[in-house]
Amino acid sequence: MEQSQPVALVTGAARGIGHEVARQLAARGWLVLLSARRAEAAVEAAGSVAGSVRPLALDTTSPDGVARAMAEVEADPGRLDVLVNNAAAFVDWSETASTADLDAARAVLDTNLFGTWRVTQAALPLLRASAHPRVVVVGSGAGSHADPAFGLTARGGAAASYGISKAAVGALVATLATELAGTGILVNAVCPGLTATYPGAEAMGARPVADGAAGVVWAATLPDDGPTGGFFRDGQPLGW
Ligand SMILES: NC(=O)c1ccc[n+]([C@@H]2O[C@H](COP(=O)([O-])OP(=O)(O)OC[C@H]3O[C@@H](n4cnc5c(N)ncnc54)[C@H](OP(=O)(O)O)[C@@H]3O)[C@@H](O)[C@H]2O)c1
Repeated sequence: MEQSQPVALVTGAARGIGHEVARQLAARGWLVLLSARRAEAAVEAAGSVAGSVRPLALDTTSPDGVARAMAEVEADPGRLDVLVNNAAAFVDWSETASTADLDAARAVLDTNLFGTWRVTQAALPLLRASAHPRVVVVGSGAGSHADPAFGLTARGGAAASYGISKAAVGALVATLATELAGTGILVNAVCPGLTATYPGAEAMGARPVADGAAGVVWAATLPDDGPTGGFFRDGQPLGW
């Protein structure tokens, strides 16, 4: 492996957008640490992607598991340039704030907010040592006040804890990017748009997974003078 080969870690990459982000980064010649919460799923998914791809077991909700995974990365390859926080939990569309089971809501927040936060904290020591460090958080218009189709106030209160978790992780991006301004670590949130990662999505107008993933790869591969603290889709700014 050439020392100049950039290294990216993608969470929740056994399927869906994360898997496609891993594929696109590997196709660019990157070393991709393809992580999934089940070790076997990571191995199987890594085997399905061409290029330099290594499986990594990483359940973002497990403090011990995250520490173990990051120790593995520190040992080999010993460096990390980009972290893509893609893993997420979803909820039924029928869940509303007034009736939501709060234990279930807490579990969604644990993955979508605290999982992202936990993995990012654990990755920062390696990222700080990178020449071109980037943190990408896969957010969603569902957590935005500005999204006219799926935003917080646009969908009649549906999928409450998912939207709240994505709004919270957007706030994490804004806060962390502000803290890290001037360090060279660019921190951005990306909404992939409605993407066909589940049955029936195409009939609802969802776009191909490759298109949703491309905007995530854009944020992962920003130049040093690229933006930080922003929210984007397809490389274009979105309102929070
Ligand atoms: N698809 C869309 O239309 C859309 C729109 C806006 C935003 N997004 C965002 O895009 C990202 C990817 O979504 P997707 O549609 O590709 O979803 P997906 O196909 O359901 O993939 C989600 C991935 O996250 C993993 N995951 C869940 N909990 C985890 C945990 N605790 N630790 C590690 N991995 C975990 C899942 O692993 P398992 O396989 O083990 O369950 C799965 O691989 C998410 O952040 C989502 O919110 C998607």
